[in-house]
Amino acid sequence: MRAVAFMNQKGGVGKTTCAVNLGAALAEARRRVLLVDMDPQANLSVHFNVDIHAIERSTYTVLRGESTAREAVLPEVRERLWVLPANIDLSGAEIELVSAVGRESLLRDVLQPFLAEEPFDFVFVDCPPSLGLLSLNALTAVEEVFIPLQTEYFALQGMTRLLEVVELIRARLNPALSVSAIIATMFDPRTNLGREVLEEIRKYFGKKVCRTIIRTNVTLAEAPSHGKTILEYAPSSRGSEDFRKLAKEILRR
Ligand SMILES: Nc1ncnc2c1ncn2[C@@H]1O[C@H](COP(=O)(O)OP(=O)(O)OP(=O)(O)O)[C@@H](O)[C@H]1O
Ligand SMILES: [Mg+2]
Repeated sequence: MRAVAFMNQKGGVGKTTCAVNLGAALAEARRRVLLVDMDPQANLSVHFNVDIHAIERSTYTVLRGESTAREAVLPEVRERLWVLPANIDLSGAEIELVSAVGRESLLRDVLQPFLAEEPFDFVFVDCPPSLGLLSLNALTAVEEVFIPLQTEYFALQGMTRLLEVVELIRARLNPALSVSAIIATMFDPRTNLGREVLEEIRKYFGKKVCRTIIRTNVTLAEAPSHGKTILEYAPSSRGSEDFRKLAKEILRR
């Protein structure tokens, strides 16, 4: 099993889009995938048409110890895809859990018994755009970090801080942790800027940068409003093509 956090404290860089659609592409490739929504914005849950106002169990209740992961994970939302949903309640967790014992490892502790019983091939944790307690919990619960980077100016802004936090969690709480993939997103091959930024990203991260680049594709932005993954919404779009290719690459890496 590979457990991965999709992380970048910069907002709107494609974390959720990557977690959802790479997850869906891996499920299509016959892997069993659990998606954990660790963002109070709950965009990942919305991608699957989850009624976030109606759910009684969520990442929040699980972190609070009010329900188990098994109780809160929704029944298979798509073939081989499972979702632990979130809602706005999770925004309270940053503050409420500050005084909890082992506050950085709550997610790991609640997921462990569930993962021990369920044979998932991938667990993806979608993080909020911050380096707060929710993101620290994600880093403690996984072994890999995937960093989506938008191929725009300032793509690398904040990277030093992000890598420092990963290193801190590795040293103190989770020796197995590493940044294993950088995913360049929203790439427009027609612009010089896109190519320049991609070059800069490759210089900074070297081999960690995935060969597969996620191009800008409007169907990727449309799919969530229909409660669909890109593979369902526009199966032959460039978006679907890119995520299927990325899934193959991730399976090889
Ligand atoms: N390759 C793409 N082409 C076109 N639009 C995209 C692409 N990737 C993501 N988007 C759109 O860009 C916006 C931001 O993407 P996304 O929500 O995945 O980013 P995020 O990093 O999860 O954001 P946040 O930090 O708010 O959680 C969304 O509206 C999404 O649909
Ligand atoms: Mg998001």
